[in-house]
Amino acid sequence: MDTATGGLRHRDTRDGMTIPPTLTLKTVLDASYRPRWWFDFLTTEPLTFATLTDGTAATASVIASMFDPTLSLDDLDWIRAQWPGSLVVKGIQTAEDARMVLDHGADAVYLSNHGGRQLDRPPVPLRELPAVRAAVGPDVPIILDSGITSGADIIAALALGADFAMIGRSYLYGLMAGGERGVDRVLEILTREMDVTLQLLGVSSVRDLGPQHVRLDRA
Ligand SMILES: Cc1cc2nc3c(=O)[nH]c(=O)nc-3n(C[C@H](O)[C@H](O)[C@H](O)COP(=O)(O)O)c2cc1C
Repeated sequence: MDTATGGLRHRDTRDGMTIPPTLTLKTVLDASYRPRWWFDFLTTEPLTFATLTDGTAATASVIASMFDPTLSLDDLDWIRAQWPGSLVVKGIQTAEDARMVLDHGADAVYLSNHGGRQLDRPPVPLRELPAVRAAVGPDVPIILDSGITSGADIIAALALGADFAMIGRSYLYGLMAGGERGVDRVLEILTREMDVTLQLLGVSSVRDLGPQHVRLDRA
C-alpha cells in the first residue's frame, strides 16, 4: 500500500542502481579492490527479470510501470472476494488505516514505510505500533518492518505489540558480504542480540514482553 508509485530514489539514479545495474565511475572504483567481485561479475550471466521486457530501467521507473496509483479499498474488496486464504495488507502506516483494511476483510496488518525509501518523513512503524495494537485489539496479527537492524529492535517491536518483526536490508548486507553464510551470520547476530536484550531486561521469554519494557522517547 506504500508503493502506489515509485519513490524518488535519487541515490539509486546517481549510483546506477538500475536493472541490470549500470557501471558508474563510483561503482568501478568501489569494486576495483575486490577482484572476486569482478571475477563473478564478468563470468556470471547478468540478472534478468521475466517481468521486464524492455531491458534496462531505473528501479523507480520499473515500480512506476508495475504499480497502479489508483489502488483503493475497492481493489481490496475485489481481492478479498477472489482469495479465500489469509490476506495480509503490507504498507500500513497508521492505526486508522489498519482499522480500515481490517473492516475491508484483511486478516492481518503489516506496518511498513518500506524502510523509508518511498515517502520522505513517513510515520515510523515502531512509533505507530502501540496505537495500532490498541486500535485492532489483541487478536489481529501485526507484522512490522522498516529499520530493524538489531535484535534489540526486534525485542522492542514484540514488546510494543507486534507478532513478527521483519528485516529487509539487514539480511541483504550479510548476503552481499558473505553469500548464504553471511545471511546465516546475520541471523546468528540478531538471535544473540535478542537473547542478551531479554537477559538485560530480566525477561525469560518473548511472551512476557510488554510496552513497559520499551522507552521510545529520549526526553
Ligand atoms: C531489494 C529490495 C527489494 C524490495 N522489494 C519489495 C517489493 O517488491 N515489495 C514490497 O512490498 N517491498 C519490497 N521491499 C521492501 C521490504 O519488503 C521492506 O518493507 C523494507 O526493506 C523494510 O525495511 P528495512 O530494509 O529497513 O528492513 C524491498 C526491499 C529491498 C531492500
